[in-house]
Amino acid sequence: MSALPASPLSGQVAVITGASSGIGRETALTLARAGAAVCLGARRIHLLHEVVKEIEGKGGKALAVQTDVTKRNEVKNLIARAEEALGPVDILINNAGLWYCTTMTGKLDEDDWDTMIDVNCKGVMNAIGAVINGMVARKKGHIVNMSSECGRKGFPGLAVYSGTKFFVEGMSAALRLEVAKHGIKVTNIQPGDVDTPGHAISHDKEAIEKFGAPKGIELMQAVDIAEAVLYAVTQPKRTAVNEVLLSLPEMPF
Ligand SMILES: NC(=O)c1ccc[n+]([C@@H]2O[C@H](COP(=O)([O-])OP(=O)(O)OC[C@H]3O[C@@H](n4cnc5c(N)ncnc54)[C@H](OP(=O)(O)O)[C@@H]3O)[C@@H](O)[C@H]2O)c1
Repeated sequence: MSALPASPLSGQVAVITGASSGIGRETALTLARAGAAVCLGARRIHLLHEVVKEIEGKGGKALAVQTDVTKRNEVKNLIARAEEALGPVDILINNAGLWYCTTMTGKLDEDDWDTMIDVNCKGVMNAIGAVINGMVARKKGHIVNMSSECGRKGFPGLAVYSGTKFFVEGMSAALRLEVAKHGIKVTNIQPGDVDTPGHAISHDKEAIEKFGAPKGIELMQAVDIAEAVLYAVTQPKRTAVNEVLLSLPEMPF
């Protein structure tokens, strides 16, 4: 077995959305450690600057661009800034996303439903639209979508979130077939419960109580998911990692 090079992503450029927190932040650090130049997008620019500082402090190359993924022009700007400063985008990590635990009856949190659809579906499409033709022209690229176990199975209290991740799964399955001939890979990462700040954003206490989150079980850490991303993007040209499902051992999928 040949050893993995120390910097397997040296010379590559990766854009990571939602890099200000949780899985996205850890993925940015991990890809940078593997030698990629990384461009980070999210709304909270001060948090992105902290990640850039950490990467630069370790000798890596990083850039922060304030981006709301629901705004197509801002996502186009993210990619343009990445290409200007770092070079053509080899890897896009579509990570920005959020989930609210909401009931589908009684109190209808329709604004939360809209937000999940806007960020988790339209945000992903805005980023793919911004990179895909460039990747086709260069005959090379890798799109990694942060999906979820919820993209494979419906969970009560997470119907709309599940719907958004099913969208990501269906879209990716078709996209993969369209772009494989252009040398582009599409990977979906499907985590179960990961200990991130995103776990605390739901405000519908009734839904949380009713459906809950795993109790008394050690959750996965963001770094575990980042390592799965690294695995997917460092395989040889001949190998496409289409999906990686990561679940809690106590809650087998
Ligand atoms: N944690 C889990 O258990 C779990 C399980 C399966 C899948 N996932 C998926 O993993 C991804 C990351 O979640 P996480 O757990 O790491 O949560 P997190 O810590 O809350 O991070 C979410 C990230 O998304 C960004 N984001 C949200 N709305 C955005 C917008 N409109 N524009 C740009 N960025 C936006 C946030 O940045 P700003 O607020 O700064 O914009 C933040 O960086 C999501 O797609 C989520 O669905 C998580």
